[in-house]
Amino acid sequence: MSTPQPEPVLELRDLRKSFGANAVLKGVDLSLRPGRITALLGANGAGKSTLIKALSGVHDPTAGEILVDGKPVELENPIAASRLGVRTVHQRIDDAIVPGLSVAENLVFEQIALREAPPVASLGSLLPRARKVAAALSLEWDDAFLKQDVFELGIADCQMLLLARALVTEPKVLILDEPTSTLSQSEAERLFETILKLRDDGVAILHVSHRLAEIEQLADDIVVLRDGRITATQDRPFDFAAAVTSMLGEGMTGDIARLEHLVGDQVAIELTGHQIFPESPALSMQLRGGEVTGVIGLIGAGKTELAEHMFGETTTPHGGSMTLRGRPYSPRHPKHAIANGVYLVPEDRAAQGMMPGWSIAKTFSLPFLSRFARGSLLQPKSETQRAAQAIDEFGVVATGPGQSVDALSGGNQQKVMVARWMQTPPDVLVLDEPFRGVDIGARREIARRARAQAADGSCVVMLCSDVDELREIADRVLVLVEGRITLDARIDTVTDEQIVQSMTEVA
Ligand SMILES: Nc1ncnc2c1ncn2[C@@H]1O[C@H](COP(=O)(O)OP(=O)(O)OP(=O)(O)O)[C@@H](O)[C@H]1O
Ligand SMILES: [Mg+2]
Repeated sequence: MSTPQPEPVLELRDLRKSFGANAVLKGVDLSLRPGRITALLGANGAGKSTLIKALSGVHDPTAGEILVDGKPVELENPIAASRLGVRTVHQRIDDAIVPGLSVAENLVFEQIALREAPPVASLGSLLPRARKVAAALSLEWDDAFLKQDVFELGIADCQMLLLARALVTEPKVLILDEPTSTLSQSEAERLFETILKLRDDGVAILHVSHRLAEIEQLADDIVVLRDGRITATQDRPFDFAAAVTSMLGEGMTGDIARLEHLVGDQVAIELTGHQIFPESPALSMQLRGGEVTGVIGLIGAGKTELAEHMFGETTTPHGGSMTLRGRPYSPRHPKHAIANGVYLVPEDRAAQGMMPGWSIAKTFSLPFLSRFARGSLLQPKSETQRAAQAIDEFGVVATGPGQSVDALSGGNQQKVMVARWMQTPPDVLVLDEPFRGVDIGARREIARRARAQAADGSCVVMLCSDVDELREIADRVLVLVEGRITLDARIDTVTDEQIVQSMTEVA
């Protein structure tokens, strides 16, 4: 016997949205109920963010009805949605953060816009309110943090800031579009505590995620969106195999193949007496071609710094020396690294290397312009052909190689950026959190490609903070803690517990 469900706070009836001739939402019915977390699943480009934008007053639906507390509403703009208690944290955080303002101002400015709080003249007079909001969410944000320009925040802090902003006005409905794709495990856990508490307080929550473990932990209901239509709904206990099939179609859902582990024999890149942080001890490591090395660590462990050093992207002194294939290697600029066959797929892909308005094809060939050029003239055809091939292989949902990267869904932008660095076999390929924001199909494809390149002799290094992700791709694991190596082992000789324990080992 199931207990009767509370009436929905938010309902969609036959909601449709097209961009020009491109029909993205093709008639969606959905109910969100108080005190329940609904997980929204769907492949990259299925229409999840579009649905959320229609729900939050960003997009005007082409047809259909939205009801709040049983009454049809018009959501002309995000403020109108907020007034009705529908609060959203969008996928693209850079659109929502107001640059040039402090953290405190970013935190409370919508409250002022909503006229739920009187306007204030100075940052100083805003601080008490901002402190209260931060404390209510157990965020340890001191005044120095609240006063700094948002420009100085990392992506994880921006994400927490936007969540905090959404909660300032006690929402009835909270919509989170991939809130954890930029967070580490421990930050995500903190977010989950907040989400579960809000659920217990009766908030209706819609949560978008590509991580099934997270959905298992949080959700009361699952809704699958495929190509603009709801194709499955479930409550507990969930059948994830069925959900994934309904999301991607048959034939895409085979279990992760057991890895045939590779053992590299040639040292590709070697660091000697290298300091990741100015104050951290000198470390030495050899990274070999012919295998995939997974470097795992919490935020602040030094993974990104390590990658930047290898890619010539930082000017901070780090002592020691590097060799590449046995020869001295000290890149001063990414173009030196690229010329030497060392590639980096950065963590913050959208910010680093995506030019607004550029086509997929152009974005794709940007770092390699000389390869596509004859003399000074670009060869548009080969550029287009390569991009078309990558669109096909990585399953990028796009109208074609000429589509502007801005109009792609978040995960499809990620696929373009990862695919761009996988188009030629590099000597050393460093992937910083390559699975973030991509759906399960693309995740498998990225892992498959990375391993194929390693099997061909490339030195592939994957940086991540999730043990499951590591196991899907790596042959060897290196654990970093504050710039030190606390574990170096073949992945099949260590347990998850050993890895996690090494990740928190203090000096
Ligand atoms: N402003 C826009 N103009 C034109 N097309 C758009 C626009 N916004 C989204 N689209 C198209 O709508 C489709 C769905 O995009 P959406 O961002 O909703 O996907 P998503 O399910 O959120 O994917 P992801 O998991 O990658 O975030 C995509 O094919 C995208 O190109
Ligand atoms: Mg999206």
